[in-house]
Amino acid sequence: MAIFGNNKFPVKDKLVLVTGASQGLGYALSQKLYEQGASVILIARNKTKLASNVDHIIKSTPNASSTQFVEYISADLTIYEENIKILNYLKSKNYHPDILFCLAGSSHPGFFMELTPDDLSQGIDINYKTALYFIHALSKYFVQSKSQPGQQKHIVLCSSTVAFYHFTGYIQYSPMKTAIKALGDSLRQELKPYGVKVSTLFPGNFASEGYTEENLTKPAITQSIEGASQPITVEQCADKVLYWLNKGDHYVFTDLISWVLASFSLGFNPRNFGVLQVFVAFVGAVVARFVGLLHEHDVQVAFDKLGGFAGEGKNKKDDVKQEKVEELLDDGQTVGTTSIDSSSKATTDVKK
Ligand SMILES: NC(=O)c1ccc[n+]([C@@H]2O[C@H](COP(=O)([O-])OP(=O)(O)OC[C@H]3O[C@@H](n4cnc5c(N)ncnc54)[C@H](OP(=O)(O)O)[C@@H]3O)[C@@H](O)[C@H]2O)c1
Repeated sequence: MAIFGNNKFPVKDKLVLVTGASQGLGYALSQKLYEQGASVILIARNKTKLASNVDHIIKSTPNASSTQFVEYISADLTIYEENIKILNYLKSKNYHPDILFCLAGSSHPGFFMELTPDDLSQGIDINYKTALYFIHALSKYFVQSKSQPGQQKHIVLCSSTVAFYHFTGYIQYSPMKTAIKALGDSLRQELKPYGVKVSTLFPGNFASEGYTEENLTKPAITQSIEGASQPITVEQCADKVLYWLNKGDHYVFTDLISWVLASFSLGFNPRNFGVLQVFVAFVGAVVARFVGLLHEHDVQVAFDKLGGFAGEGKNKKDDVKQEKVEELLDDGQTVGTTSIDSSSKATTDVKK
């Protein structure tokens, strides 16, 4: 990482695509990127929110340059064909993106045995496929299309602190965020020869709409274990992301605890303050297992106190889903045959 030197993440006059931009971090970053001189295309499913965000961004940035634009594309990125429609739209407008921010994602906390098959599918689809399909569909066009001379293209993926420490309650989410970390690491090596830089964000908690939603089902024991990570605001998170990307980081952290947890499992990972991380890694090698054992003990105590976890952390939405699973079982169907009807999903709506 760079301590001194120029901005390693210039966005002025660049075209940036941001997924997950109907709310939360995606929206906050879209706004800041536009303020800093980039043209931005916001992507998510909710057309009403996207249109209102675009409107707000334009109105709140009166000094934008005449060459800048901000648009939205409504698409369900878990459906590969909708990513192809985005690609076709870019081609039709002769748009050549310089930066892809893949931020779509969400968590539905809960205990493994209480999650429904739909919860599990959503975890895989929203957290992994949205990034995998989006990058894959755009990749050939992205690497081949012109960039500013001497300037690098950039893909930014969004993982989470929980990719470095897996604990109870995040089983629908954290394995997928580890998959995003692996995707970023693999793409970093493979796309470097094409002049594409790949960074991965590992944010700690920040107070987005999604964070409020996930707290509705978050078990008390999960909240207790993650207690060390207090939420920052979405704007603070977006500022930290841009700050560390400007410094040139491949792994971006938004709080100390995430950096410490990442340092505990350095391996082949890119380094941030590498010498210090080696020292922290040594400390981690000594103490991390004891912290893990302490948390295992806390989980056992919580389990004994409640007489089992059944019902803990659930809300009414879960009860409805659980009833559906029970209905299937009553009908003699196996849970494994439950499938999501893709025809009922939002269709791509490419609109300026
Ligand atoms: N908040 C936290 O504390 C926290 C911590 C660590 C990491 N993260 C990660 O940071 C990223 C942003 O988090 P956030 O809290 O800002 O999220 P959020 O408020 O839940 O927003 C999620 C965004 O993803 C979009 N999205 C979901 N499914 C989609 C799909 N199938 N196709 C296209 N877009 C889809 C949503 O829009 P539509 O519903 O309109 O499609 C929304 O814009 C996520 O990847 C999250 O996992 C968050």
